[in-house]
Amino acid sequence: MKKILVTGGAGFIGSHTCLVLLQKGYEIFVIDSFINSSRKSLKNVLKIVDEEKKSSFSKKLKIFEGDIRNKELLEEIFNKSRSDGNGNGIEGVIHFAGLKAVEESVNNPFLYWESNIFGSINLFDVMHKNNCHTLVFSSSASIYGKNQTGKIDEYSQINPINPYGTTKMVIERLLEDLQRSFNLTWRIASLRYFNPIGAHYSGLIGESPIGIPNNIFPYITKVAFGALKEVRIFGDDWPTIDGTGVRDYIHVMDLAEGHIKTLEYLFDNKPNIINMNLGTGKGFSVLELINTFENVNNLKIPYVFNSRRSGDVASLVANNSLAKKLLNWEPNRSLRQMCKDGWKWQFKNPEGY
Ligand code: NAD
Ligand code: UD1
Repeated sequence: MKKILVTGGAGFIGSHTCLVLLQKGYEIFVIDSFINSSRKSLKNVLKIVDEEKKSSFSKKLKIFEGDIRNKELLEEIFNKSRSDGNGNGIEGVIHFAGLKAVEESVNNPFLYWESNIFGSINLFDVMHKNNCHTLVFSSSASIYGKNQTGKIDEYSQINPINPYGTTKMVIERLLEDLQRSFNLTWRIASLRYFNPIGAHYSGLIGESPIGIPNNIFPYITKVAFGALKEVRIFGDDWPTIDGTGVRDYIHVMDLAEGHIKTLEYLFDNKPNIINMNLGTGKGFSVLELINTFENVNNLKIPYVFNSRRSGDVASLVANNSLAKKLLNWEPNRSLRQMCKDGWKWQFKNPEGY
């Protein structure tokens, strides 16, 4: 089976994706600095898969602690992969590693350009030198411009409004340049995620933000647990169904499975570059999300209305027809499932990992 390098594999989306990769039989190499994650996530990934398959998968998951800005370490990982098992090296990369806090990026754009862009340049360079040209990159719906209505397709205006989004746009452009310059070699997919939430149903892995969460879902789960007093809803006068912001929430396990589908699509097709939305195509307002969470989990979530958050948009919902068509795949877990699984994770792990 193929060997895959997963950068940032200990993080929220990375850990769920590592689980699916192992379930599908891939051998994986993870590089993570653990700046925003814990080793325990990958330990728990092994726990889940060992239990499911009734055998030990520890040999199939190799973990390297370090930063993708460290080229020597990346080289070492590629070298190690060749001296391992069947002698084939890493054949594909899923690139999650990066910083993702919007506000932090506004306060420290140098850090975001340095870490996200320089780190990615390093990675792509080492991949190229090691003759590994299949890449799935974590982009974001935050690259789309603000004043758009309706569902957003891949041709919608690109106009990020914060340094975090800019780094994603710049990396996408770099990848387009690589594809143009070496057009018979690279197979690339930049996946533009909408709003991943929820957790694996076991409650063993999930989102573990450091400090007070910025995003709505982990905020709701902390309020549910009593660690935070109430949800502050940013705006009740948006042009939406009930005045609160609408987003396209996608279950993190659906997102993880979408990565493996994408990787396999790239392996099975000619060199190409794809920019693709991963979302459900369905929008829910903040109030709908809170109501669903209350309903499914039989809990009350206190909330108050606040003024709008700067940089927010009324509605951000994916047109996901490209992913459906190319991958023959679509997310199938409901908002109720997301709320159920996300709460189970929080309840079992009040302090995160
Ligand atoms: P996360 O912070 O949980 O995971 C990122 C992982 O990368 C962490 O384990 C972190 O320790 C590691 N990391 C960060 N910088 C690194 C570096 N320079 N070298 C090595 N490791 C490094 O975030 P996530 O939610 O799992 O997101 C994964 C990717 O998806 C990120 O690139 C993020 O920008 C993108 N994304 C996330 C969302 C979301 O809502 N979660 C939405 C759109 C895009
Ligand atoms: C945010 C980021 C985006 C990033 C995404 C995933 C901003 C402006 N955008 O998207 O770049 O890709 O996270 O990491 O930060 N809300 C509340 N109260 C809260 C938090 C949020 O009412 O305490 C509302 C927001 O106004 C929005 C919805 O909930 O309508 C979703 O917000 P959030 O979870 O932060 O995601 P995005 O803003 O879509």
